[in-house]
Amino acid sequence: MSARREAVDDFELDALVALDRESFGNDAWNAWTWREALTSEHRLLRTEHDAGGLAGYVVVAILGDVAELERIAVRTDARRRGLGRKLLRNAVDESRENGADALILEVRDDNLAARAFYREHEFYEVSRRPGYYDRGAVDAVILQLSWARHD
Ligand SMILES: CC(C)(COP(=O)(O)OP(=O)(O)OC[C@H]1O[C@@H](n2cnc3c(N)ncnc32)[C@H](O)[C@@H]1OP(=O)(O)O)[C@@H](O)C(=O)NCCC(=O)NCCS
Repeated sequence: MSARREAVDDFELDALVALDRESFGNDAWNAWTWREALTSEHRLLRTEHDAGGLAGYVVVAILGDVAELERIAVRTDARRRGLGRKLLRNAVDESRENGADALILEVRDDNLAARAFYREHEFYEVSRRPGYYDRGAVDAVILQLSWARHD
């Protein structure tokens, strides 16, 4: 399986790196990691643009039955307008089309906006990595959406 990706020029790569940094701070991917990620045959990238340029992106790794949502972010001033929902639905649809039965992801326990966002999309908790972030201070929560349950 080879997931389809959008073409990314240097300008778009810079915008992805900047938005990732704005969204994830110390947990952001650097330009090298972005470049590596975008050369993988098994990852797909989807983006949204508005008058301000790159407004959001999602990166999904599709490897067999379970796809992993590795990154999703929307520019701060473009949030709560449904762009995240659109990107996530796109990721689910394409994961499904590429043969996955479920989408998993990892989120910081203290990321209340993202927790609410995933709750809205019916993700459920499957496990935790206690103290995974910030030198033991914050758990990582593993969430899953399994669409086979809804068929
Ligand atoms: C999570 C994120 C991608 C959501 O993007 P968004 O474009 O704002 O999301 P949407 O506008 O599509 O929101 C869809 C629903 O999710 C929920 N939601 C989204 N942000 C929320 C918030 N801050 N507080 C409570 N609920 C929220 C709401 O139910 C919302 O529906 P509503 O606006 O009709 O109430 C965005 O907050 C973001 O980029 N966060 C920083 C990066 C990040 O944490 N990514 C996830 C890491 S695992």
